Amino acid sequence: HLYRSALLRFADDGTALYEEDGLLATAPDDQGVQRVHAAGAWRALAPLYLPQASQPVTHWPGRIIAPGFVDMHVHYPQLDVIGSPAEGLLPWLENYTFPHESRFADAGYAAGVAGFFLDELQRNGVTTALTFATSHPGSVDALMAQAQARRLRLIAGKVLQDRHSPDGVRDATEQSLIDTEALIQRWHGKGRLGYAITPRFAPTSTPQQLSGAGALAARYPDVWVQSHVAENQQEIRWAQELFPGTRSYLDVYARVGLLRVRAVYAHCIHFDDEDRAAMRESGAVAAVCPTSNLFLGSGQFDFAGADRMGFGYGLASDVGGGTSFSPFHTMLAAYYVGREGQTKTGLSLAPQRLWWLHTAGAARALGLDGVVGNLQPGCEADFVVLNPAATPLLARRTAGAAHLDELLFAMIVLGDDRLIERTVIA
Ligand code: GUN
Ligand code: FE
Repeated sequence: HLYRSALLRFADDGTALYEEDGLLATAPDDQGVQRVHAAGAWRALAPLYLPQASQPVTHWPGRIIAPGFVDMHVHYPQLDVIGSPAEGLLPWLENYTFPHESRFADAGYAAGVAGFFLDELQRNGVTTALTFATSHPGSVDALMAQAQARRLRLIAGKVLQDRHSPDGVRDATEQSLIDTEALIQRWHGKGRLGYAITPRFAPTSTPQQLSGAGALAARYPDVWVQSHVAENQQEIRWAQELFPGTRSYLDVYARVGLLRVRAVYAHCIHFDDEDRAAMRESGAVAAVCPTSNLFLGSGQFDFAGADRMGFGYGLASDVGGGTSFSPFHTMLAAYYVGREGQTKTGLSLAPQRLWWLHTAGAARALGLDGVVGNLQPGCEADFVVLNPAATPLLARRTAGAAHLDELLFAMIVLGDDRLIERTVIA
């Protein structure tokens, strides 16, 4: 296919590349997945592609083609607990989240929510997500089957939680590991799907379950691992009581082999430099969830500390602790948090960096560099079509933007699902 429109993509160093009048050429690979063949200025590429085009050019005047967004951490079963008021993480889990997740024992219920969830991702321009299901294996099947039908690149896993969890969500140690391995074999690498070994967080797993998860992580090195760490002070104290003799909360995961490449830890707020170094050395990465951290009052991710110690991270919604599926809302919240943590003047998180952290940067953190999150040649062609005139104020503010950073920032600050005119899946 050939598309003509303004075009946003990223260089390897994270710099945004922008064409006012761009051309995106895609072609299917052996699996029938559309991949980017070329992306650049219309003037340069049209003479090469037009003569051999078999279909008319799709022209979207006044629109911007941009990479689909990558959400590094979200809970599909939690869309019905968004905005539940509670005094912090642990009461929120106990009073809202666990009771709600118990409903996913019903496969029909899970399928209904899974469909709604995938629609919502698409409406918001999110084309790849790393998502928690619930502890019920059928909750994974419900989501994966629908993601496969939509040909989405999606990664998900069954939650492991064999203690300190109520009836209805608590699983059984040995069976939970058997179920996890069966789900890996059923879904990992099927089309564009991936599996993630998913211990909920250290306090709700026995040491046996965590060790079993670590053993699976070693046996299946290209499967992802996802969990939560160092989100909330009360949670950290609890983890330290339950795992005496560990250096830190993160160390609980390190000791069982759950810190590795393709391990994604949500939050990573209350870290010291030894934790940050352990992330860097192991290749594990952080999913930064600013709307969730602000909503639950958990604390704030230290962007400067992460950069100083050099571990990888990207942005995530963490719905339903997070308050929005919209990548624009998440980027804006990240900006507030990054700004707050900064003592000197200047923009810690410039607009291009925010956007990169939710697209190509997030893809890189997931080990999907050059696969999704960008529109460079070879990437799978998952993209959004932005309408910068979607609302009167957006139209006015983006028309008045003097350069690319102003344009991107106007969309980050004023944008929501209305800015996403369409989402195209490769
Ligand atoms: N820690 C353990 N479970 C959860 C969860 O569902 N959401 C968040 N934000 N933190 C958690
Ligand atoms: Fe979470």
